[in-house]
Amino acid sequence: MSDLAADFIPPMPAPAGRAPSALTGLLRARRDVLSIFPADAYRRQVFSTRLPGRLILVANTPEVVREVFVTKHDTYQRKSRFLEDALRPVVGGSCFIAWGNDWAERREAVSPPLHPSGLAQFHPCYVQAAEETAEDFARATGPVDVAAAFATGITRVLLLAVFGPDVPREEAAVIAETFTAYQDAAEVVDLLGLMGLPDMLGWLTRRRANRLARELRGRVGRLLEAAGPDGGTPLLRALRAAHRPDGSKVLTGERLLDEVVMFLLAGAEGAAITLTWTTMLAALHPATADRVAEELAILPPGPPAFDALPRLTYMRAVIQESMRLYPPVAVFARQAVKPDRIRRWDVRKDDIVLAVPWLLHRHEHLWDAPNAFRPERFLGDAARQRQRFSYLPFGIGPRICAGAAFGMTEVSVFAATLFRRFRFALAPGFTPQPNCRLALRPKGGMHLLVSPR
Ligand code: HEM
Repeated sequence: MSDLAADFIPPMPAPAGRAPSALTGLLRARRDVLSIFPADAYRRQVFSTRLPGRLILVANTPEVVREVFVTKHDTYQRKSRFLEDALRPVVGGSCFIAWGNDWAERREAVSPPLHPSGLAQFHPCYVQAAEETAEDFARATGPVDVAAAFATGITRVLLLAVFGPDVPREEAAVIAETFTAYQDAAEVVDLLGLMGLPDMLGWLTRRRANRLARELRGRVGRLLEAAGPDGGTPLLRALRAAHRPDGSKVLTGERLLDEVVMFLLAGAEGAAITLTWTTMLAALHPATADRVAEELAILPPGPPAFDALPRLTYMRAVIQESMRLYPPVAVFARQAVKPDRIRRWDVRKDDIVLAVPWLLHRHEHLWDAPNAFRPERFLGDAARQRQRFSYLPFGIGPRICAGAAFGMTEVSVFAATLFRRFRFALAPGFTPQPNCRLALRPKGGMHLLVSPR
């Protein structure tokens, strides 16, 4: 494999010395899920840990991931109760955490407006938000926290796509900041709940998180009210129009609010995080950034055209490699809705099975030099030879990301706009540190120097 970047190992936490006990592991996981995996987790196939009353199984091979998330979707359709509890205050019963018939009808309602065939209509939203971010970068006089800038920029895309151009740009910054604060306040791993005990401390630990959640829903609720019952963009009208075979509407009142909040948060989170890690990689490996800039030089000046994006194959490979090394959703959990058997394990109702893209994407049996940054893995024959179900940045099976094409396109427009104009470097004294709670964000932000190319 010819690779420009073969020897570059970007930042990653050191593996845990040895497997922690189940309880120590959970205590650590509250702060950072990545800190619990020992070195052999990057080699093993399926492994388990047992808490009082509950088995937690890690499906760490493509075959078992497929078995759990695709073949046995009915048994493992439910995201874990912990993720449900962590997100419900903000996204209500949204498609992201619903299950059963409720999930099926919500999923059917949110998918059509995000279909790849309709994405060109959102291109002006991607371009406007990317240009605004570029202007901010051009004006910066010191280090920029690109994690915050992308969270705002991508939330701005979603606000433009759902509500149109009348919503002030500041709204995007407030929504993105409030969600970041919510993630810091929410306890992702609820120890008592995980052991099957009532969540007696929940009200204490979650008070601040609940206040932030109410603030977020209140803001988006006011935007919906201002749009009126028939207003908003085609995307909002499509959500409102979704109906059941008997003609009744699927998304009314709070249910519509759930899905719009989910679009703004789940939709922005993955793309903003992808851009953040990709920009860090460009900062740490300027040769790659230069090659992307050379590829972008084939485009005429001005914003990248929608139909030019497929020609940017190297840039796309860099983004894909960034999502391999730093999958924004680094852990997917599923809670069994009925008993099952996986390999030698008896799984009971309510046991948890995890797929961990962070491990799979760095698994020693699935990738050459798994921790090295090599965009060439995603080009030509190397890409074609990749094992299925070993690369899951958008999830897998019937619950795969509904906005994957939308997300990839907005990330590409931002990257094409910014990597052509700017060089990036780490801010003096700043060390990037991956930290996984609800999503894989850089701890304390991503502070970079931005200079014109
Ligand atoms: C680069 C950008 C994105 C990434 C990396 C990403 C990643 C993911 C992942 C990994 C899941 C599955 C989680 C699981 O199975 O537990 C997911 C689900 C979902 N995503 Fe995305 N996402 C991105 C952009 C978007 C956008 C732009 C939207 C909508 C505007 C969106 C909407 C959804 C929805 C609705 C689900 C839930 C699907 C279901 O459960 O049926 N995502 N996303």
